[in-house]
Amino acid sequence: MHRKDAENQQSVVPIHREEILKLWYSIDQPKEQIAAFVAWLINSDFFKAPCSTEFHLCRPGGLAEHSLNVYRLLKEKVDRYYLGCTSENPVTASNIIVLGLGHDLCKVHFYVPGYRNVKNDVTGQWERKSVFKVEDQFPMGHGEKSVSILQDYFQLSEIEKLAIRWHMGPWTGGVVEDYATREAYRAGIKRHPLVTLLSTADIEASQILEAD
Ligand SMILES: [Fe+2]
Ligand SMILES: [Fe+2]
Repeated sequence: MHRKDAENQQSVVPIHREEILKLWYSIDQPKEQIAAFVAWLINSDFFKAPCSTEFHLCRPGGLAEHSLNVYRLLKEKVDRYYLGCTSENPVTASNIIVLGLGHDLCKVHFYVPGYRNVKNDVTGQWERKSVFKVEDQFPMGHGEKSVSILQDYFQLSEIEKLAIRWHMGPWTGGVVEDYATREAYRAGIKRHPLVTLLSTADIEASQILEAD
């Protein structure tokens, strides 16, 4: 990638920043811990990062946009239809914020700007295209990594941990191939409807709302 392209990708205006920070400040956690987490978030690439290398929202700011989409979908589903989230399976506004905005924190410090040579179908010429590549600074998985990052700042509830850990649903690495992982996933989704609701909100956002 040309130096200028990389600079442009890094200098995107964080359009969702204010709304996202306001939500984080409202969660049921000690104020000092929220302040420490928000300081980390602002100093990270969260508001500039893409959400993927080539699929949904693979552009600067995509991760923040996707997180907000998942939060809104999850909130709407729970507010309107409950979907099992009743007094027996209570859900707080804070739970929904932590799940929606925190589920993909594993993508922080994960992508870097790069380039790829792509053939132009019209001219037949090879052209240099700006893309994002994976360069994971903390390689410990996906949902489990998001849980780990959040736990550095907050004491998550069991349901918050389970929902974020399994937010890729049946596409979670190992669920199909590995017996122990599959059994843990099956047991996880039985604990609380939020485990399924977060993974379906994630798919609805990435496959429908954010589809090109
Ligand atoms: Fe994810
Ligand atoms: Fe996601």
